[in-house]
Amino acid sequence: MEGEKAMSEQDNKGKPEGAGGEQPILTNRQGHPVYDNQNTRTVGDRGPTVLENYQFLEKITHFDRERIPERVVHARGAGAHGYFEAYGTIGDEPASKYTRAKLFQEKGKRTPVFVRFSTVIHGGHSPENLRDPRGFATKFYTEDGNWDLVGNNLKVFFIRDPVKFPDVVHAFKPDPVRNQQDPNRIFDFISLSPESMHMISWLFSPRGIPANYREQEGAGVNTYKMYNTEGVGVLVKYHWIPKQGVRSLTQAEADAITDFNHATRDLYDAIERGDYPEWEMRVQIMSDDDHPELDFDPLDDTKIWPEDQFPMLPIGRMVLDRNPVNYFAEVEQAAFGTGVLVDGLDFSDDKMLQGRTFSYSDTQRHRVGANYLQLPVNRPQKHVATNQRDGQMTYHVDGNEAGANPHVNYEPSSRGGLREAPKTGKDHTPYVEGPVVRQKISRTNDYKQAGERYRTMPDWEREDLISNLVSALKQCNDDIQERMIGHLTQCDEEYGRRVAEGLGRNVEELTADVALTR
Ligand code: HEM
Repeated sequence: MEGEKAMSEQDNKGKPEGAGGEQPILTNRQGHPVYDNQNTRTVGDRGPTVLENYQFLEKITHFDRERIPERVVHARGAGAHGYFEAYGTIGDEPASKYTRAKLFQEKGKRTPVFVRFSTVIHGGHSPENLRDPRGFATKFYTEDGNWDLVGNNLKVFFIRDPVKFPDVVHAFKPDPVRNQQDPNRIFDFISLSPESMHMISWLFSPRGIPANYREQEGAGVNTYKMYNTEGVGVLVKYHWIPKQGVRSLTQAEADAITDFNHATRDLYDAIERGDYPEWEMRVQIMSDDDHPELDFDPLDDTKIWPEDQFPMLPIGRMVLDRNPVNYFAEVEQAAFGTGVLVDGLDFSDDKMLQGRTFSYSDTQRHRVGANYLQLPVNRPQKHVATNQRDGQMTYHVDGNEAGANPHVNYEPSSRGGLREAPKTGKDHTPYVEGPVVRQKISRTNDYKQAGERYRTMPDWEREDLISNLVSALKQCNDDIQERMIGHLTQCDEEYGRRVAEGLGRNVEELTADVALTR
């Protein structure tokens, strides 16, 4: 895959590629030349077909299996290859102050990347102009193995506990009977989940429909950690800032788009014409503790970290400069996960992040297969040597290339097997204690940042937000409308009032005791 030049259909036309300018010979997967690809083998020219027709059976049975399960979320996507270039610094400090991750240490150091952008809710061929968060997943092929940063274009999320993820997704997916997305189901869930108010204030604004994948931001959303050679850790949030600028669509502008592949086309065409999209990576950093002085919990993914207190520190830039050669092999089979970290980067105690970390590789073993990490797009671009063996579609034996004794697939061993790597610095050893509970965090503060977002939006975005919420809530039951007006009023009095007015509801007459949570 590497080094091959992406060819558009136009490039291929009229260009035979075989030796001596002839088109190459067609074979089957056994390497047998195919002498006749127009006629199946039959008894006489009118049939019936014969059962020993290996060439036909191979072709049709492989075709029957061409699809793998779609991603359960983020099924519609587009991807591209490129590189990340480190600044060697984080803000004005050497990167080594915060992290020993090798990819960040030297100014100008380049690490290959693969990025997949996506929409979340609908299937693999769904329109790209729908209101939906956009996935922004990056795989860094570092010298220490892969690092995946699996983010979205919006900086916050709907929920803060992973046990609620299947529910929020079910509420947004089409109704299981009618097979149509239904605002009454979406806002039934949202109106009983006040932690969602901040996210829906972004999602129902124009930010919920980016103009394309190039003119959007990215964010890791969850809180991670970095640690240095002394093993000292800090909390970190990651951001991607597009050099192209941010451009989002009002509902009317999105409705006017007739090409429902527009975002995929835009990304592919820009790269083909050499107009390579670029983002700067910036990080926000906090000391690794629970920060009781803040009115939000730094591990709560429904919150942003205010930039005036936690400045955005540049750390590097990313350029996407190569289209995939094959969509299925590289984009569909790409597998990202929040647990895929390198030395110098770590999880935080964020329970959402831990739930995600289990979920990604679990679904990928089901979706792509047990050996998904042996595929070119997923495998690290460095030495891989494990004692893992076998499973469906084993392609090679990890470790043989490294010269390990092929008889030894266990460790420890005195017989030429693999050995543990030397440590590169002090371990980062976070201390954790506490009762094991099922309990939400104490600083929920569900409304304040949503209100701030409402108040700081440009007027045109606020107009569109109100109009989009009103048109969705018009399709909802009265009690759902009332709960939503109750929540939005607590975010900002004007916010709730304008939505109520749009719905023709009188705020004063609304039942004061409507239950806002369950
Ligand atoms: C507990 C919460 C979450 C769970 C359990 C979860 C689970 C999943 C699963 C199962 C997939 C499909 C992966 C695959 O088939 O390869 C997925 C994809 C994805 N998720 Fe999440 N997710 C959660 C929250 C989030 C959040 C907060 C973000 C954004 C920061 C996010 C961003 C993404 C992206 C970008 C993809 C697509 C990756 C790709 O392009 O292949 N998810 N998620």
